[in-house]
Parts: sequence; C-alpha cells; structure tokens
Amino acid sequence: MPPAASVRAARVQFAHESEAEFAHILDFYGISWLYEPSSFPLRRKGERILEAFTPDFFLPDLNLYIELTTLRQKLITEKNRKVRLLRELYPQVNVKLLNKKDYLRLLAKYGYGPPDAKKVPDIDRVLISASKIQRRVGELGAQISRDYSGRAPVAVGVLKGVFFFMADLLRHTSLPVSVDFMAISSYEGDSGGAVKILKDLDLNIAGQHVLLIEDIVDTGMTLNRILERLWSHRPASLKVCALLDKRARRLVDVPLDYIGFEVPDEFVVGYGLDYHQRYRNLPFIGILKHELLS
Ligand code: IMP
Ligand code: MG
Repeated sequence: MPPAASVRAARVQFAHESEAEFAHILDFYGISWLYEPSSFPLRRKGERILEAFTPDFFLPDLNLYIELTTLRQKLITEKNRKVRLLRELYPQVNVKLLNKKDYLRLLAKYGYGPPDAKKVPDIDRVLISASKIQRRVGELGAQISRDYSGRAPVAVGVLKGVFFFMADLLRHTSLPVSVDFMAISSYEGDSGGAVKILKDLDLNIAGQHVLLIEDIVDTGMTLNRILERLWSHRPASLKVCALLDKRARRLVDVPLDYIGFEVPDEFVVGYGLDYHQRYRNLPFIGILKHELLS
C-alpha cells in the first residue's frame, strides 16, 4: 500500500512564501513531501564541507527533489550552478529546478490539476493520481509474479473497464501468461432477464491456473456470477485481482486475492472506468461531480 501522506504544510516553518504555497499545492493534490530533508556536499577541503546544497523538497512518491526559484535573476543563476554541480556529483539523484509555471505543469503531468482539472470540468477531485496507480500496479505485478512463479497462468479480464489496468499489470509480471477476455451485460433498468455473457472465453481453462482481473468490485454481484461461471470450467485454481474495492457497498461476499486500492462509496471514473461510456481515458481515477450522476 502507498505510504501515508507526509507532513502537512501548516506544521512546517518555511523560509519563503513560495515554498509554503508549493507545499499547500502538494497537500491539496495528495502528494507526499518532505521539506529540506537532505544536504548534498558540493565542495570539500579534506574533511571540511565548503559548500553544500539543500533542495527545498523531496517528493518520495515521485522520487524527485525540487528546488524552487525565486524571481531574482541573480539567485536563479546561482541555483542553476548548484543544481548543475549536484547532478554532476550525484548522477543518481533526480532533481528539478522549478518556477511557478513549471511546477503547475509538473503536477499536471502526474495527473494532478490545476491545468488538467480545468480540462476535465466534470471531475470533482482526483482520488488516485496517475503516479500512485502506476506504483501500486507495479507492486501487484511483482506480487503476482512471485505467487505464480513456475506456473503459466491464464489472465482473464472483464471488459471494458479493465483494459488499462490489465495492460499495465501484465507488463509488470514476469510470467508466461495467456490472456483472455469476457464481456458481460450490466443491469440496465428492470428489463428483466439476468446477467448475459456477451463474450465468452476463447481459451479452454480446464486444469489451468486462472487469474480473473476486474476494474472495480462494488456490490460483488457481477463478480459472483463470473466466478460461478469460471468454476464450472474446472480450472486448477481461480484467484481474483481487482484494481478497486468499493467494500462499503458489498452485498455478495466475494473473495478478492489482490486489491489495488480500497475506494470510498463514491462513483469513480478514469483509468478505464466509465460513466455512460465516457471518462475512460483519464490517466487518474477521479470522483465525478455529483450533479452529473442521474
Ligand atoms: P457490482 O456487480 O455491483 O460489483 O458492479 C461491478 C461493476 O459495476 C464494475 O465492473 C463496473 O463496471 C461498475 N461499477 C461499479 N462501481 C463503479 C464506479 O464507481 N465507477 C464506474 N463503474 C462502476
Ligand atoms: Mg466492469
């Protein structure tokens, strides 16, 4: 699971107003940060450190040091020199020099507003950022690779919501995996009938180790039907990996073996999940504005 958010802006004494503002922005978008956590010696004379550089922030989620520039050109030149030297001496350290416009753009790149949120006016707020998703998906892929080591499982995805998650997850597994998909109808008012299989498996899973991959488990009713169906084909084993677990709404107690994130009882979209077929292409998972839900 991702580490808890770090220190909050209100509790830290900042040297400059712009640093406090940056910390507030990071807090607002749920990005963990540490203020001036490390100093890097730049020049030494024997044991003595003649010059050191202490970047303003470290963002553990992005493994990135940030140095904010003020508006004074003289200071910018001096900071540029220090950052250049730091990169030379510590090539493994990821550091960026940012002015205000730069850092807003940087946040947008990682799926946080404001620039992105402006482009997606239907989103109330970002729940899980693109970088958090990628980190967690990597962890799940590693765990699945360990658990299925020596086996060649069949990964079965439930269309359509799972397409980003499954693609990313399987790229993080080091297994000789086969891939198949199922598509099922969802409940659309009281038109009668039951869950329909719109697309069944192509592969024969009898005697196979099957990993079912789902985008989100809500009431659990859909997954319950799919699992019944899959067990009837007599696989050797059957496990479930769900990106999102909306546990508060569970009606059927379905077993989940791998869970990306637990989410609150809110309607979420993005990273494959839709509302009336829209918003699937958002790189983050966000909460849709309530007034848009009908
Ligand atoms: P369940 O049968 O209630 O567990 O519903 C599962 C299905 O409902 C998922 O596979 C999604 O397609 C859809 N679903 C449930 N909650 C959400 C949500 O918050 N956003 C988008 N789709 C959802
Ligand atoms: Mg679905």
